[in-house]
Amino acid sequence: MEKKRMISGITTTGKITLGNYIGALKNFVDLQDDFEMYIFVANLHGITLPIDKETLRKNIKETVALYFACGLDPTKSNIFIQSDIAEHAELAWVLTCNTTLGELQRMTQFKDKSNKVKSDNGTEFIPTGLLMYPVLMAADILLYDASFVPVGKDQKQHIELARSIAERMNNKYGEMFKMPEEYHPKVGAKILDLQDPTKKMSKSSLNSKSYIALLDNIEEVKKKIKSAVTDSENLIKYDLENKPGVSNLITIWSSLANLAIEKIEKMCEGKDYGFLKENVTNVVVSLLEKIQSKYNEIYNSDDLEKWIESGTLNAKKAASKKLRKVYNLTGLNYKRK
Ligand code: AMP
Ligand code: TRP
Repeated sequence: MEKKRMISGITTTGKITLGNYIGALKNFVDLQDDFEMYIFVANLHGITLPIDKETLRKNIKETVALYFACGLDPTKSNIFIQSDIAEHAELAWVLTCNTTLGELQRMTQFKDKSNKVKSDNGTEFIPTGLLMYPVLMAADILLYDASFVPVGKDQKQHIELARSIAERMNNKYGEMFKMPEEYHPKVGAKILDLQDPTKKMSKSSLNSKSYIALLDNIEEVKKKIKSAVTDSENLIKYDLENKPGVSNLITIWSSLANLAIEKIEKMCEGKDYGFLKENVTNVVVSLLEKIQSKYNEIYNSDDLEKWIESGTLNAKKAASKKLRKVYNLTGLNYKRK
C-alpha cells in the first residue's frame, strides 16, 4: 500500500526544547517507517522577527544536525531546508492573494507575538512577516499534498487556516490541494513551562530554568528538573487543571519512557515528589546524553550536506509539480488554456 505523506518543520529561532522534541520531533522519528515524511528546517519563518545572520546560520545548521541526532534517517525521511525550495515562497504569494487581512489578524500567535514586540521594544512597528507567517506555513503544507501535519497543539489554528485556504481555492479554481489534517502525539502535545506550568514550554522564555533545551549542559538539566514548580500536596496524580506542574512531569516521563500515565501513577503510589523528579531526571538525562553524543559526532562531518541532498531533490520534484498545477489552474500560466 502506498504510504501517506506527512509534512512538518521547526522554526530556526533558537534552541530546540524538550517541548519541541516531545510535541514534534519524537513523532517525526516514530512515524518515519509508516509515512512518507517531508521534514524541513523553517528558516524563512525564522526571519519573521529580526535575527542576525550569524545566529541564523548557526540555528539552521544546529536544527539539521539535531534532526539527525534525534533519529531522523535520511534513507527514510526527506529532510531539507525550506529556502532551498523556492516554490514555498512562490506559492505563499498566490495563497496571500486568496487570504483576508481579517483572517490573519485573528491568529492568536500573531496577536501574542506582535504584542510582545510592542511591549519589549515599545514600538508600533510590527514586521509584516509576523502577519504573513501562517500563509507561508499553509504553502509549506499544501505544496506536498500532505495528509497529516505532525505538530504540537499551538499550531492548531494555523492548520485550520491552511485548510480554509485550500478549500476556498479548490472551490474557486478547481481541485488543486489535498486537505491536510493535524496530527498530535497521544501524550505531550503541549509540554509546559517548568517554572510557570500554566504556560507552554517555550525557547523564547526569559527564564532559562523554564525550559530544557536538547543541547543544555546535563548538570544544568538536573538542576532545572529539581527546581521545577509542583504544588504543596505531595500527591502524584495526573490532573492538568489542578496540578499542572506535577502533570507536566508525569507527561514528560510517560512520553520518554513510553509508559502509560496510569501506569506511572501506580508506580508512584505512596511516593513523594522527589521520587517523581528523580525518574523524570533519569529519562530526560538518558535521552539528552544520547542525542548530544550523536550531535557532537555529526555536527562537523561532511555527512550533513550529503544527507539532505536526496530529500531536497524529492521535495523540489513534488513542489514544482504542485506549483505548475496551481499556475495552470489559476491562469498564471498564460501559455496554457
Ligand atoms: P517552534 O519551536 O515554534 O518552531 O515549534 C516546532 C514544533 O514544536 C511545532 O510542532 C510546535 O507545535 C511544537 N512545540 C513547540 N513548543 C511545544 C511545547 N511546549 N509542547 C509541545 N509541542 C511544542
Ligand atoms: N510554525 C511552525 C512552528 O513554529 C513551524 C512550521 C512552519 C511548520 N511551516 C510548517 C510546521 C509547516 C508544520 C508544517 O511550530
